[in-house]
Amino acid sequence: MEERNKTLGEFIIENQNAFQYSSGELSRIINSIRLAAKVVNYKVNKAGLVDIVGAAGEQNIQGEDQQKLDVYANEVFIQTLINREIVCGIASEENDEFITVEGSDNSHNNKYVVLMDPLDGSSNIDVNVSVGTIFSVYRRITPIGTPVTIEDFLQPGTNQVAAGYVIYGTSTMIVYTTGHGVNGFTLNPAIGTFYLSHPSMQFSEDGNIYSINEGNYVHFPQGVKNYLKYCQSEEGDRPYTSRYIGSLVSDIHRNMIKGGIYIYPTSSKAPKGKLRLLYECNPMAFIVEQAGGKASDGFGRIMEIQPTELHERVPFFCGSYNMVEKAEEFMHDAKLSKY
Ligand code: AHG
Ligand code: MN
Ligand code: MN
Repeated sequence: MEERNKTLGEFIIENQNAFQYSSGELSRIINSIRLAAKVVNYKVNKAGLVDIVGAAGEQNIQGEDQQKLDVYANEVFIQTLINREIVCGIASEENDEFITVEGSDNSHNNKYVVLMDPLDGSSNIDVNVSVGTIFSVYRRITPIGTPVTIEDFLQPGTNQVAAGYVIYGTSTMIVYTTGHGVNGFTLNPAIGTFYLSHPSMQFSEDGNIYSINEGNYVHFPQGVKNYLKYCQSEEGDRPYTSRYIGSLVSDIHRNMIKGGIYIYPTSSKAPKGKLRLLYECNPMAFIVEQAGGKASDGFGRIMEIQPTELHERVPFFCGSYNMVEKAEEFMHDAKLSKY
């Protein structure tokens, strides 16, 4: 069969043997995410329509209020994983605490935990702009058979066994890695099947897009300000193009295809940055590195940070390798010049 006709289901089965500890559990997790993504996709696509119906004064049969989509997506992903009894714990950006999952026989015999941002870029929903879901999978540290503890979630990103995102865009895609490169699958909505459309995705080493919320410029650290001036100065292939959607998933997806850097720095308003290490930065860093790019906090590798709390925030610089390296140079120089 020709490569581009392969479905995600076929791809998962074919690649199962590539997993070091293959027992089919990880494949089942990816399969569950595939299913939940289709359910959320259906709802995301109806978001505008529901508003129109509502505006006409019609209520749904149950007379319920429309649930916020990030709460809805959170429930769909969590329930799909819980119902299939394939993980021992889940942590989500939408939940204060992690969830301990036990099997129907009250056992704790599964070995993976999933961490996720169920709906990324949720402020874009109301304006019909792409949103996403981000997920990350780790092997538990505590012994199988016992309930999970916080340690199982506070692992450095280098321990990830899989990570991916779903992008609900002009078409819906799942992009993921299990540590053997990055592959992208596009949903054919007519039949509800994902097809391998972007095999072995790669960041170009250099790029000409920079993505940052420049409205916060005055609050940025000096190194970021200097790097932005560099991006905007006229020399060689510069000035670069500025593109910022405000959905991390969409901004990174575009930069992976076209070449570019994404930055969410610290600022005087958000001294630790805005993005969350466990739900956003680590999974994206794993994907970006697997695609040949680089992911940093401005000074060091994102995936080597030892997390200390579930909802920890971190500054994030990621994308084309040489661009991120250049930005790190500016960060480093500005830090030195302070002293
Ligand atoms: P979320 O919707 O999960 O809270 O994430 C929003 C994040 C990320 O997707 C995006 O890149 C960033 O927030 C945008 O922040 P600004 O509006 O501050 O630029
Ligand atoms: Mn997010
Ligand atoms: Mn979110």
